[in-house]
Amino acid sequence: MLFSPLTLGELELPNRLVMAPLTRLRAGEKGVPGPLIAEHYRQRASLGLIVSEGTYPAAAGQAYPGQPGIVTQEQVAGWKTVTDAVHAEGGRMFAQIMHGGRVSHSDITGGLPIVGPSAVAIDGVVRTPAGKQPYPVPHPLTTDELPMVIQEFVNASLNAIEAGFDGVEPHAANGYLLHEFLAPNSNVRTDSYGGSPENRARFVIETINAVVAALGANRVGLRISPSTTSRASPRPMQRTSAPHTRSSWTASHRSTWHT
Ligand SMILES: Cc1cc2nc3c(=O)[nH]c(=O)nc-3n(C[C@H](O)[C@H](O)[C@H](O)COP(=O)(O)O)c2cc1C
Repeated sequence: MLFSPLTLGELELPNRLVMAPLTRLRAGEKGVPGPLIAEHYRQRASLGLIVSEGTYPAAAGQAYPGQPGIVTQEQVAGWKTVTDAVHAEGGRMFAQIMHGGRVSHSDITGGLPIVGPSAVAIDGVVRTPAGKQPYPVPHPLTTDELPMVIQEFVNASLNAIEAGFDGVEPHAANGYLLHEFLAPNSNVRTDSYGGSPENRARFVIETINAVVAALGANRVGLRISPSTTSRASPRPMQRTSAPHTRSSWTASHRSTWHT
């Protein structure tokens, strides 16, 4: 079964082995993928599909030093060398679009403010180039600011297609920005983006809908992790919110999601 083909959106996968997104932090200070990253993915091109490491859609969304981005033309050109290497070996590759949200520090984002759904900091320390520091209290995104963040996801997704990726996977798992909206411990908003499971899922659904409008559902996946307890989500997302996100997504797009 694992070695039988699978149709996934527009793609024909020769087998059902999909490489999970794995952050490697090898993109240097400018977040530009170089030859080492191209070789890393080229070596794995025989898998049915590769999902890239989490890649930031805006400088304020960078979570780690050395993480790659997909914002600047230099970053897009760097990724093109990666997708060219994978395609030359007959492989297929999605870009994971990951906004770190409150899992970061202004020493990592080049001084840009750290954002999240609410002014609730992670209880712990973050590794920065200057050493370990307490996680900052994030700036709570206003309803006026949310469309700009959605646009960053859309722009990054369009950049990913320009860079030769076969599709994108917005990252709504593992405690980063989109997951922070889903999780009741990081989202204590009282507006239409907080409170009920439907409200907490709203920002994720608006984001994914905007990316689908730009790229088409056949080229868009979504990652969620309802039971994660890692880092920013010491308590799992309430179970009621995960099925809502998943069913809204599959009902509207009939596309891919994974946990
Ligand atoms: C070093 C490392 C980096 C990871 N980076 C990402 C990432 O960038 N994006 C993501 O969605 N998951 C990331 N994950 C989670 C993995 O994709 C995977 O879900 C996790 O390792 C659990 O799978 P396993 O039980 O097979 O190890 C990472 C995991 C590890 C160990």
